[in-house]
Amino acid sequence: MIKAFLFDLDGVLVDTAVFHYQAWRRMANSLGFDFTHEFNETLKGVSRMDSLDRILALGGVTLTDERKLELAAQKNQWYLDLVNEMTPADILPGVNAFLAQIKQAGEQGQPIKIALGSVSKNAPLILDRVGLSHIFDAIIDGSKITHSKPDPEVFLKGAAELNVLPEECIVFEDAVAGIEAAKRGNMFALGIGSPDVLTQADLVVPSLEHLTVTELLSAVERAQG
Ligand code: BG6
Ligand code: MG
Repeated sequence: MIKAFLFDLDGVLVDTAVFHYQAWRRMANSLGFDFTHEFNETLKGVSRMDSLDRILALGGVTLTDERKLELAAQKNQWYLDLVNEMTPADILPGVNAFLAQIKQAGEQGQPIKIALGSVSKNAPLILDRVGLSHIFDAIIDGSKITHSKPDPEVFLKGAAELNVLPEECIVFEDAVAGIEAAKRGNMFALGIGSPDVLTQADLVVPSLEHLTVTELLSAVERAQG
C-alpha cells in the first residue's frame, strides 16, 4: 500500500531545470564549446561537481581541482541570479492542485506523507522562494547525502525519515538518473516528461496537470497487482 510520495525538486515542482541548463551552457560557452538539449538530459539529477566533470569531459577540457571549484562557484552564482527572481508563480502547472489533492486524501482517511528528495544544495533556498518549505514531512537535499542520483540514497533516506518502506513510496522524477535511483531503491517511479526519455519509469505523464492522486494510486495498484 502506498504511504508516501517523494518529490524531486528541479523540473518536477519548479522549472529550475531550465536555469541549470542555462547556467551550465553559459559556463561551457565561456570555455569555448556548447552542448545540446539531449546532453543536458544526462545532467539532470546529477550533483554539481559530477555535472561539471561530465561537461568538461564533453568539451575535452582538463583543469586543476582549484579551477574546477572556481567554475562550479561561478555557475552557481549565475544559477542563483535566476533563482533569486523566483516567486510562488514559478511553481510548475498542476503542482498546487496535486498537493491539495494529497491533503484531501488524508482528510478522507488515506494519509500520504510527503518528502523532498533532491541532490541540490540550493533546495532549501528554492523552496523558500516559492513558498513550499512548510509542506514537507521530511526534506532530503544535497547537504544530507554523499551519493548523487542514480544512487538511491536520497530516496532511501527520505523513506527512512518518513518511517515507511521503499515499496510504500512513489517517486516523482523528471530525470533519467532520478528514475534509475527510484527503481534501484525498489520504489514506484513516476516520470514527469517524455516516455521516450524516461524509458525506465513505471508511468510517465507530461506534467502533474495530467494526473490526479486517485488516478495515480489506481495505476500503482494495477501495476503492483
Ligand atoms: C539536481 C539538478 O536537482 O540538482 C541538477 O537536476 C543539479 O541539474 C543538482 O546539478 C545539484 O544542484 P545544486 O543546486 O546543488 O548545484
Ligand atoms: Mg529534476
